[in-house]
Amino acid sequence: MGAHRPGSGTALGTAPLSEATGRRLKPPPERLYGRPRSHALRPRQVKLLAETLPRLRFDVTRASDPRAAFPAPVRAVWLEVGFGGGEHTLAQAAAHPDVGLIGSEVFENGICSLLSRLVPEGGEATAKLPGNLRLWDRDARALIRLLPDASLEKLFLLFPDPWPKARHAKRRFVHPALVPEVARVLRSGAEWRIATDDPTYQAWVAEVFADQPFFDVPPPATSRPEGWPATRYEAKAAQAGRKLLFWCLCRR
Ligand SMILES: C[S@@+](CC[C@H](N)C(=O)[O-])C[C@H]1O[C@@H](n2cnc3c(N)ncnc32)[C@H](O)[C@@H]1O
Repeated sequence: MGAHRPGSGTALGTAPLSEATGRRLKPPPERLYGRPRSHALRPRQVKLLAETLPRLRFDVTRASDPRAAFPAPVRAVWLEVGFGGGEHTLAQAAAHPDVGLIGSEVFENGICSLLSRLVPEGGEATAKLPGNLRLWDRDARALIRLLPDASLEKLFLLFPDPWPKARHAKRRFVHPALVPEVARVLRSGAEWRIATDDPTYQAWVAEVFADQPFFDVPPPATSRPEGWPATRYEAKAAQAGRKLLFWCLCRR
């Protein structure tokens, strides 16, 4: 997973936030920043990507009706953006077998980490896979653009890459230009969960959502709410004594 924390140094907090959210904020770049892998893949990882991932990959031709991407009927579809090692994705899929969960991640080591928890060595091409889980191994923003209006009931963004330098603010997933795009695919009453330990991103989330018409934004919790499985990044951040914030935004 993205063991890296892209960017470092000057916090956005050293400049007025409105500098970034106002006229000077550039639109999000089409390309994604960050490394696709952290080291050469081992033979098991190569097998997981070649044999297991295609069995779980979200079929893009189903994007206009994402429920149809799951072999069994599902009552709702949820999307996780940047699942890292997949701890939260797998826990949610197991806890909610009646929900179709799409996990998106571009970091190959992260995808392998999730897949390796699902299939034993030797079972890459044959082991039974959860029918309510599908993976999108590309930029989550591309999938969001393909999904129909009001097609998701939950969206998870847990410990996103913070891009703390002000000049990199445009790379953050929470971006004033992306908020309406996410809002479009969430049905009324749907939840957008966001967690971060990064003080710059915490201030950024507060700023971006202070002035938008799409979501109700209750104050964030300082400990992880019920029904919200932990991730590897959260564990690392908590161990380092960093302050964590957890938002549950509600689509109006
Ligand atoms: C800091 S890691 C956190 C991983 C995980 N959510 C956790 O809490 O452990 C952020 C992850 O988001 C992924 N990511 C960033 N932008 C993404 C995008 N637009 N679509 C899919 N994945 C993305 C990165 O590859 C990285 O693995």
